[in-house]
Amino acid sequence: MKFLVFLGTVRDSTPPSPPRLGARVAKSCLECLASRHDEHEAELVDALDYPLEPVFKPHFAYPRSKAPSGLNELADRIASADGFVMISPEYNHSMSPALANLLNHFGSSLFAYKPSAIVTYSAGQWGGMRAAIGMRTFLSELGCLPVSAMIHVPRAQDVFDEDGSPLDGVDGQAWFNYFGRTFKQLFWWAQAAGAHRARVDPHKVVRDFTRDPSERNAP
Ligand SMILES: Cc1cc2nc3c(=O)[nH]c(=O)nc-3n(C[C@H](O)[C@H](O)[C@H](O)COP(=O)(O)O)c2cc1C
Repeated sequence: MKFLVFLGTVRDSTPPSPPRLGARVAKSCLECLASRHDEHEAELVDALDYPLEPVFKPHFAYPRSKAPSGLNELADRIASADGFVMISPEYNHSMSPALANLLNHFGSSLFAYKPSAIVTYSAGQWGGMRAAIGMRTFLSELGCLPVSAMIHVPRAQDVFDEDGSPLDGVDGQAWFNYFGRTFKQLFWWAQAAGAHRARVDPHKVVRDFTRDPSERNAP
């Protein structure tokens, strides 16, 4: 199975220091996925690699042939994935606006009927928990329902170095065990959903929006 690991920080500046703390968390997640679960593929989607127009024009608002190539490429990657790991810092007790903006560029039909895992982090003591609560709602609306176990990394700068390796004195095994609980839930749901999608096409059972979300309104 294939999983996309979204890294939702585009902050490459200081203060506060260090910049792009999330890169450490993402590298560690990818390392855990590769070392423990090598039957699955995990690819990074770094929000920094997808510079977006200041005027919001989502992928689904373009005819396919006119859409920016980066958006077409990411839409194809999302469509072919079996599940998602969504990594976000906490900014003002909310998920990263860069992650929300990137995800908002794609219709829920690309994400739907596949599970997701929430990973948050912060430089402070709460590990992004408040952002994580909002992410449950956001990801549920996208249709990639989050698994129950979440990963929170408080004071991430004291846990992982720039390569995503545990710093001296940090019990890396304990962190991988903690990550593993969430990833195992993700794999279980991804396998179950994938097997059922192969038998019953959900997009034939529940029609995707073709014009706008009012199509689901109560009569
Ligand atoms: C605009 C802004 C808002 C922040 N708000 C919070 C917050 O609500 N809770 C928290 O724990 N940390 C907060 N922080 C600190 C971040 O946890 C810290 O800067 C972290 O490095 C951000 O991740 P990043 O470097 O990957 O962007 C905030 C940082 C910024 C820049």
